[in-house]
Amino acid sequence: MTGRIIGLGSYIPKKVVTNDDFAKFLDTSDEWITERTGIKERHIADHITEKPSTMAVEAAKKAVEDAGIDPKDIDLIVTASTTSDSVIPALSCIVQRELGVTENCGCFDVVCACPGFIVAFNTVQGFIESGNSKTALVIGTECNSNFANYEDRGTCILFGDGAGAAVLKAEDIKRNEFIMRSSGYRSDCLRCEAARQPDRWEEEGFKTATSFYMQGREVFKFAVSEVPQIIKDLAEKYSFDLENDVDYFILHQANARIIEATAKKLGIDRAKFPMNIMNYGNVSSASIPMLLAEMKQDGRLKPGMKLVLASFGAGLTWDANYIVY
Ligand code: ACO
Repeated sequence: MTGRIIGLGSYIPKKVVTNDDFAKFLDTSDEWITERTGIKERHIADHITEKPSTMAVEAAKKAVEDAGIDPKDIDLIVTASTTSDSVIPALSCIVQRELGVTENCGCFDVVCACPGFIVAFNTVQGFIESGNSKTALVIGTECNSNFANYEDRGTCILFGDGAGAAVLKAEDIKRNEFIMRSSGYRSDCLRCEAARQPDRWEEEGFKTATSFYMQGREVFKFAVSEVPQIIKDLAEKYSFDLENDVDYFILHQANARIIEATAKKLGIDRAKFPMNIMNYGNVSSASIPMLLAEMKQDGRLKPGMKLVLASFGAGLTWDANYIVY
């Protein structure tokens, strides 16, 4: 058995921050941000009513409604977040409580930066394939604005907040095929230390170290070489043709130029690489489920379509999946 996505939902914070808004307090411009990233605006949470936990609950409710299931049927919840507002309990336990899921349900979270949703998805698929779950919820939720350094124009303009969720149901369909890779050796490229280290609060540079730090150019070079490569390797490993056997390539929305470069390197029509980064920025682990939910809502995503999902981020980590929607 494999988990088929039967429901999708998202939560997008109400407040919109445009590139021009950044230009009011940073040495930047709409032209620079648009040209280098493709981003025009992003949604930023209010941090009181919109937190990773509350956004996860709202996205999950919509996914459950979209799937048309009773929350009592859910037997596993896995939430991906790198910016959680809850150290304990796991966000998944909060989602369980708010949705009224029974206690006969496993709940835990995964932390894997931007690829978190795919990591959670693969984990859930393992439970389904081994017969330990029949109906599961997979969520990606992020409040990147809590960790962005708003004095660093090279990183803060990239990030947005939001959540996306999918309901997976065990069905006798094509297996979830995937490759996951990581390089801890390149962990310095993208870093953010835990802020709750009281003995270090007075240390010089501690405030900066506990915000997102990124070597943008290095991450860019890594992404435009490793993402096309892992997709090629996936096609070879599972014997499918990238040109003819894939309806859409759903890539992590980090930078429009990375997505365009990937399409070019693979020699695939750009139209097969949907993007919503212009409206939301980089929403880390929420970007893929948010894009899937949007594509279902506007009718682009249809049952039976074959999808490649691919993501990359801190770790460095990167992965790719081949699934039937
Ligand atoms: N506005 C104006 N100028 C800027 C800005 C800005 N917002 N940001 C940087 N610059 C300047 C730099 O200071 C630099 O100036 P200098 O030449 O005088 O030193 C110049 O622009 C070029 O800087 P680069 O960093 O080389 O610019 P680049 O073209 O690489 O674009 C960017 C920067 C957009 C960050 C790009 O490198 C990128 O997208 N990298 C990948 C990031 C990513 O995908 N991260 C995903 C993972 S996130 C996660 O896992 C949490």
